[in-house]
Amino acid sequence: KLMGHDECLVSSEAPGFAFVFDIDGVLLHVAKPIPGASETLRYLHEHNIPFILLTNGGGKPEAERVRDLGERLGVHLTTANFVQSHTPFQDLVAGPEGLGDKTILVTGSDPERTRRIAEGYGFKMVVTPADILAAQPAIWPFDPLLESAYAATARPLPKPLWEPGMADGDALRLDAMFVFNDPRDWALDIQIIVDALASRGGLLGTYSARNGRADLGPGEGWQSDGQPALYFSNADLLWSAGYHLPRFGQGAFQAAVAGVWERLTGGVALRRTVIGKPYAETYRYAERVLAEYRREVLERTAGTTVGAANGAGEELRAVYMIGDNPESDIRGANEYESEAGTEWCSVLVRTGVWSPERGGGGRMAYRPTSIADDVRAAVRWALKREG
Ligand code: G3P
Ligand code: MG
Repeated sequence: KLMGHDECLVSSEAPGFAFVFDIDGVLLHVAKPIPGASETLRYLHEHNIPFILLTNGGGKPEAERVRDLGERLGVHLTTANFVQSHTPFQDLVAGPEGLGDKTILVTGSDPERTRRIAEGYGFKMVVTPADILAAQPAIWPFDPLLESAYAATARPLPKPLWEPGMADGDALRLDAMFVFNDPRDWALDIQIIVDALASRGGLLGTYSARNGRADLGPGEGWQSDGQPALYFSNADLLWSAGYHLPRFGQGAFQAAVAGVWERLTGGVALRRTVIGKPYAETYRYAERVLAEYRREVLERTAGTTVGAANGAGEELRAVYMIGDNPESDIRGANEYESEAGTEWCSVLVRTGVWSPERGGGGRMAYRPTSIADDVRAAVRWALKREG
């Protein structure tokens, strides 16, 4: 007997199922648990029904954030069932293409904390906008407040910024730039990121010699002179915070960077790598984390009736993605082609970005398998369906 929305044809005899929860707008509004969230996660944990958290949020090391979440939600959580937007960046450290030894710029809502995350992942040469502003206050001359705000966390640059008359080899060269979570100081961050994109080989303080040459077509030259790669950890235009209307997310910052870049270059598209929900590589990464975590849970309960009910030893056949944002959570689950043959069902809750009372609601670009008032109702619907 097959049931469900055309995006989610799951046999009701599916022996194994699990949950993936978005955080902001589903479990929390920033630091405040949403009613029903704690008891729902506790129920699943007590019944050994596997689940992971998959958020486009970030800004703290995984261990620190998951400890904080566990305390706020009153439920046992570990880094084994927790994926943040930038968690997959750790895969860019090692290997021949690895950036572990290269010079990278990182930014986010707290650039110094972002540096700690990057260093914790294994990046060895991490600079922040604070370091650059401290080394060259004139790089963004409008905000002396920033200098004082950053003075406490700035570190000396590994090499000085290029200045006229300097040999390229003596100056700081950026190899890659990462936005780990929602930037706080957009103006300074955009100035530095666009400077680097327009530079000669990542040398902040230079412009690519190719720019504006008559023999280059529009768009050539700006991006083919060894400029640093640019990574964003998610594309959320909006997210559901404590305010009753959705707030700008990292996708809004990305649009600002692209807008300035396209104005500066006369229409050159911003080349970038974006991860996070709704993109398949993030769902693939999350599916692997979920599969590993489910193995741990089912080993714990192997041979018990609970384990049998949850399909211990069986393939994971159904994943229920519970989210508040059709553009990220729902779209990602609907479009993800599982490499393990798992069916992903999407459930949209009314407590976040898509919520009539919170400035959302109405038309949605990506239709979920089901809509529920909140996370408790969403899980009840799924458990009923699983019989
Ligand atoms: O910055 C957080 C926001 O972009 C969305 O987080 O948990 O709703 O995926 P979440
Ligand atoms: Mg959300």
